[in-house]
Amino acid sequence: MPRVLISDKLSPAGIEILEKTPGIEVVVNTDLSPEQVREELKNFDGIIIRSGTKLTAEVLDGQPRLKAVARAGVGVDNVDLPTATRQGIVVMNTPAGNTISTAEQTLALMYAMSRNTVPAATTMKGGGWDRKKFTGSQMAGKTLGIIGLGRIGLAVAKRAIAMEMNVIGYDPFLTAEKAAEHGIEFCSNVADLVPQADYITVHTPLTDETRGLIDAEMLEKAKPGVRLVNCARGGIIDEDALADALESGKVAAAALDVFTSEPPPEDFRLRTIDNALLTPHLGASTDEAQELVALEAAELMVGYLTRGE
Ligand code: MLT
Repeated sequence: MPRVLISDKLSPAGIEILEKTPGIEVVVNTDLSPEQVREELKNFDGIIIRSGTKLTAEVLDGQPRLKAVARAGVGVDNVDLPTATRQGIVVMNTPAGNTISTAEQTLALMYAMSRNTVPAATTMKGGGWDRKKFTGSQMAGKTLGIIGLGRIGLAVAKRAIAMEMNVIGYDPFLTAEKAAEHGIEFCSNVADLVPQADYITVHTPLTDETRGLIDAEMLEKAKPGVRLVNCARGGIIDEDALADALESGKVAAAALDVFTSEPPPEDFRLRTIDNALLTPHLGASTDEAQELVALEAAELMVGYLTRGE
């Protein structure tokens, strides 16, 4: 009988699908060290993970029984794909379920940065009342530059257009015509987009091409007072270069939901910079998104293990 291990916290709706599938045995154990995952996997045909479980080469290597990995979420950067491929292990993800929640988190952070919501609220909780200090910046009429026009980038664009922003975008896999259909003015590269934008948000995977895409040189090209958001993957915006640009005032504010190392170290430089708004990777953390990705991951796993599809 195929056995499936769930090693990260998964919405109950997804677990239920597996439990109700005749002929599949499901085990939930979200407390395993990498060594324990490696040991456990010897007795499983499939594993469902979120971002917590790291399926490194060491974990995946020499797993004779494991046939499938389902990632409840978009990014598969916590799975060593070359090793999985070499071992004949199928890796599936759920690219659609998080889209709206991550787009909403992007906009929430843009609004919060523009209106100084977090420092203003913190001041009030401390007994203060300072209206002048927290004067903000209106978003309507401003230009938003979106780097990466996949599902999430396009969902952000749609919402930003409704907020009366001018939206420009870049994506190596999209044509100017397709972008125009979504109301986006297409830029032919990142260096062309950056100097035009009042806000820049990145929605690409982390690859060798996108690591450090927004670095010191690119920030140099940006408008003074630009605001940046990263709800995609840590490291697309170079964290040190960003800290320098925030301190110099070149970047007015930045909101990061994702980090090169998660969690970032206690002495992480951006923690000490006032106009850096940091949240702990919450883009997909809504009840709705978690239910959708759990259902999709469970269905993919059942389909693969019972019907080979
Ligand atoms: C994803 O890749 O789906 C998101 O970053 C959310 C997550 O990692 O859970």
